[in-house]
Order: sequence, then structure tokens, then C-alpha cells
Amino acid sequence: MKRAVGPEVWHRAQTGHLETWVGYAEKRVAEAPERIAAWRALLETVEARAPTKPGERVLDIGCGLDTVLEFLPEVSRYTLDPLASQLVPMGLTPGIRHTAGVFESLPFPDQTFDRVFLLNVLDHVRAAAEGLAEIARVSQPGAVLVVSVDTFAGRRYVAKRLHKWWGRMRGARTKHPWVFSVPALQRMLESTGFEPALPERIPLAKPRRTLFVSRRRG
Ligand SMILES: C[S@@+](CC[C@H](N)C(=O)[O-])C[C@H]1O[C@@H](n2cnc3c(N)ncnc32)[C@H](O)[C@@H]1O
Repeated sequence: MKRAVGPEVWHRAQTGHLETWVGYAEKRVAEAPERIAAWRALLETVEARAPTKPGERVLDIGCGLDTVLEFLPEVSRYTLDPLASQLVPMGLTPGIRHTAGVFESLPFPDQTFDRVFLLNVLDHVRAAAEGLAEIARVSQPGAVLVVSVDTFAGRRYVAKRLHKWWGRMRGARTKHPWVFSVPALQRMLESTGFEPALPERIPLAKPRRTLFVSRRRG
């Protein structure tokens, strides 16, 4: 799998994200009952695997306009998103420490966090493995990593990758520079310092959105 996409591809994708968040703010999507139910369903699945302890330090990377941490009030909450400076004035959850930055270079000391969420972000980044290794660096040994990402299998996976490659050749804009299969994601997690994780379905999410609850190797 490639190591990184070009900065111009990533910057074009970020323009698309900002447009999405402006639309979400206008339509008040964060307050929609379906959106809130989806966050709660995801958290219920995660809690069944790795329950949160009060006072944990938790980071939500690539939070967008409404962080899942809104529903974990008893932990010490941090977010990071490249668009944070635009998202905070647009209404990104108050009362949480928001930082602007990219996960390939996390502005936090080693072993800061007990839990990291990376929800629907990994196929949008510039360098996926580089960022996962950074998450391992800022995580305590045994810390929980929650990843959700769209995965594809068989002919659909091959077709998607070809489509992405052709799009890049033509300079087309895509919000998803990366395409993952379950085994590719599992290999990447293990090679960057995390324990093996099984793929799971997320209730109320589209079937290809796959959940991995892993832990940093101790
Ligand atoms: C599809 S949104 C996901 C938002 C939210 N986590 C969710 O599940 O609804 C992807 C987010 O990832 C952020 N992002 C893109 N590249 C990133 C990077 N290299 N590091 C951290 N966040 C990134 C984007 O700014 C965008 O807000």
C-alpha cells in the first residue's frame, strides 16, 4: 500500500470537508435525532468491548463539527482536526480542548492518552501509517484505539482502487484519497504498534463502515 498521498490531493480533499461542515452547520445536522442515536449506538458497541473509566484522557482525531466526546462527559476531553480554527466558530462542541493539527504530527507529549477515537478519518488523511504510529506514540501502553473506516473486499476493492488511481491521474477531487480492505487495515494497525483487532459492524451505520477496537501494545 502507498505510504502517502500528495499534499495537493489532501488539500483538495480538505476543501471538500470544509464545504461539508458549512452545510452541516446550516442544516444543524449535529442536533438531528438520527445523528445523536448513531453516536450513542457506536459508543454502546465500544463500551461493551472496552469500557471507559472516569477521568481517562481521551482524544478524538478528525472530529469534524460534532465530536463523539459530547457523549462522554466524565472523561478529560481533547480533539484535533486540521479545520479546528474554522469549526470552533461554527459551533464545535464547547467545553472541550480543541486543537488544530494533523495526526501525522500530533502536538502532544508521549503517552498522554488512555483512549483515542479515529472515526471515519483514516481514508481522508495524507499518510495513514505515519499517523497511526503517532497515535501509538501519544498513547499509554494498553490504551484503547477506536477506528471506524469504510472497507471494501474482492472486486469492489480492486475497482475502487483503480477508480482512485485514475481520478488522481486526472487531478480530480476526492474526499477519500485512501481505500482500505479489512486485512490491509489490520496489517497497518499491527505494524504501527497496536494489537490485532477484529472487524465489527456498527449499528445504524452503512454496512461498509467497519469498526476496529484495538489496544496499544504494552
Ligand atoms: C469525514 S470527516 C469525519 C468526522 C467525524 N470524525 C465523524 O465521524 O463524523 C473527516 C475529518 O478528518 C479530518 N482530517 C483530514 N485529514 C486529517 C489528518 N491528516 N489528521 C487529522 N484529521 C484529519 C477532516 O478535517 C475532517 O473533519
